[in-house]
Amino acid sequence: MTVNYQDLSTRIASLCEGETDEIALMATVAGELFHSDDRFDWVGFYRVTAPEMLKIGPYQGGHGCLTIPFSRGVCGAAARTCEIQLITDVNTFEGHIACASSTQSEIVLPVFNPNGDLIAVLDIDSNQPDAFTQTDALRLEEILAQIFS
Ligand code: SME
Repeated sequence: MTVNYQDLSTRIASLCEGETDEIALMATVAGELFHSDDRFDWVGFYRVTAPEMLKIGPYQGGHGCLTIPFSRGVCGAAARTCEIQLITDVNTFEGHIACASSTQSEIVLPVFNPNGDLIAVLDIDSNQPDAFTQTDALRLEEILAQIFS
């Protein structure tokens, strides 16, 4: 099963209509994304809870590490640069944090609130190598902007 981003976006928008609580929104997005595509083996948010520090937020899949400083991992790189990280092979990413040894590739996107502040990153991990495309990056970015910005 491969995600239909149009359907996914419509479903998430409808589920989240009128909701402003960030955790409620993150939980809903993580749940919908996780079940939308066989490539998505871990989907979750790491929230900015202190300067230069990420803390685990709502997620689906096996356990994730609880705290990630901005200086570490793919999530830290996305938070530090505020740019999407599309990692085709996690073994080639210096400092990748392996929460599951099965992870082969991942995409991490920054999440901004309406003020443009970075509030979190969205991390999607796949057990397949080179699982993510630029289209995934664009469509996921649109969904995050629609729901959080
Ligand atoms: N792989 C991520 C860490 C988060 S877990 O995989 C859920 C990273 O390198 O930042």
